[in-house]
Amino acid sequence: MDFSIKAFDTKNTLSAAKTGVLAVAVFENKKLSQAAQALDAGGAISAAVKSGDISGKPGSTLLLRGVSGVAAARVLLVGMGADDTVSEKNYGTAVGAALKVFGTLGSADGIIAFPLADVKDRDVNWAVQSLVIAANETEHRTDTQKSKKDPVPSGVRKIVIAADAANAATALKPVLAQALAISNGMALTKELGNLSPNVCTPTYLANTARQLADAYGFEIEVLERKQLEALKMGSFLAVAKGSEEAPKFIVLKHMGGNKKDAPTVLVGKGITFDTGGISLKPGPNMDEMKYDMCGAGSVLGTFRAIGEMNLKLNVIGIVAACENMPSGRATKPGDIVSSMNGLTIEILNTDAEGRLILCDALTYAERFKPAAVVDIATLTGACIVALGHHTSGLFTRHDDAHDALAQELLDAGKQAGDVAWRFPLGENYNEQLKSNFADLANIGTPGAASITAACFLENFTRKYTWAHLDIAGTAWKSGANKGATGRPVPLLTTFLMNRV
Ligand code: BES
Ligand code: MN
Ligand code: ZN
Repeated sequence: MDFSIKAFDTKNTLSAAKTGVLAVAVFENKKLSQAAQALDAGGAISAAVKSGDISGKPGSTLLLRGVSGVAAARVLLVGMGADDTVSEKNYGTAVGAALKVFGTLGSADGIIAFPLADVKDRDVNWAVQSLVIAANETEHRTDTQKSKKDPVPSGVRKIVIAADAANAATALKPVLAQALAISNGMALTKELGNLSPNVCTPTYLANTARQLADAYGFEIEVLERKQLEALKMGSFLAVAKGSEEAPKFIVLKHMGGNKKDAPTVLVGKGITFDTGGISLKPGPNMDEMKYDMCGAGSVLGTFRAIGEMNLKLNVIGIVAACENMPSGRATKPGDIVSSMNGLTIEILNTDAEGRLILCDALTYAERFKPAAVVDIATLTGACIVALGHHTSGLFTRHDDAHDALAQELLDAGKQAGDVAWRFPLGENYNEQLKSNFADLANIGTPGAASITAACFLENFTRKYTWAHLDIAGTAWKSGANKGATGRPVPLLTTFLMNRV
């Protein structure tokens, strides 16, 4: 999709704009938005609204051709609900409805003239960003591995977003660039998630990271099994050892800030397929465990976004990537391993493997003396039970520094429309992880499985400020529209942008 921003005012009017389609908002009480009024000199729009041809309900649409006094070939009326409160949800519904009609038209270009400044509790920047991301989502292909490609999307492919002079089209240009960067980051995250697990292996993730490093000038290091052994990453290697695929430990550095500034570190879970290992998962829907690398995918997608916007911040991305497979060499329930920070772990369930690879990655992160570390992982099915598919889980310790980091992440999620919700952590939960034979067990006693998983990680993060995002419910969709969502790239990118 090709986007631009243009200001329309009394000299350069909307009604004189030559375009295939001009989308404007109307409301449930038969009221017209300002832009709709500007096109209503001939009375066609108010007549259409009065007649009841369009209800104004969020997402209702009516396409008019040859509206008198309007240069555009078509006017698309789009319902946005009650006029005194354009809610975020109604705005999103209206944007979706407009884009749907745009995709069916015999015209390649259009203008969207929505009330960008009138969305409740939101600003113009948000309205532009969410529109751009939504429009790019309609173009995302999932046919990379099909021999016969899906039809190329048709309809409007060039969108002009109308700003009024007060919205200052120039001020919105950087917002547009950021939105495109986030979109492109999400597209990479989705592509990696959707690729089949025989293609998207740890080696594939490492190669993708190398390509990103080439494209955006990141420093990169990929540690191989031998190096991981030398680092004594016994926990990560215990997961990797059941598989024929070589584990990869990827470190990407974007040093966009001052040399001396402590970096923000992102750590992604990169299980490119999670069979459960010897604690084998049941068969139905096991294919979806190809998405168990979505934490890693979101780190790479976020790096694409910050690389594109050349963010003035030091950011380090760590991806621990391997497969979790059963085999004659696989870890067994009851095995005790020694992690990089010296804690011994009794692996009671080989399916609780995410924490086993992350704990060593989190210990490795200490060497960067980070300003903050955020890990991102499809860690627990229990997180889906708690939050469903709308909201990611957020976990941190409870002190001033961590409350502040949690607030930053919650705010970034809210700002980006990629929300998270905070869970409690603490001693009582930690006790659920006691083992009779090792320092820690890798699963807790029954109850609060998402929290005990986070508690496990907490043991390895005591040297810095840390937060954990459980994206088990938000990273992909199941069912007929099965596919990766690109989350939480918007949250992470916004979080980093706010840190500059
Ligand atoms: N990758 C899974 C978590 C998961 C499951 C995410 C289903 C999304 C959908 C993780 O490795 C796992 O298997 N977790 C176990 C932990 C349990 C053994 C303590 C789980 O959640 O069942
Ligand atoms: Mn698992
Ligand atoms: Zn897993």
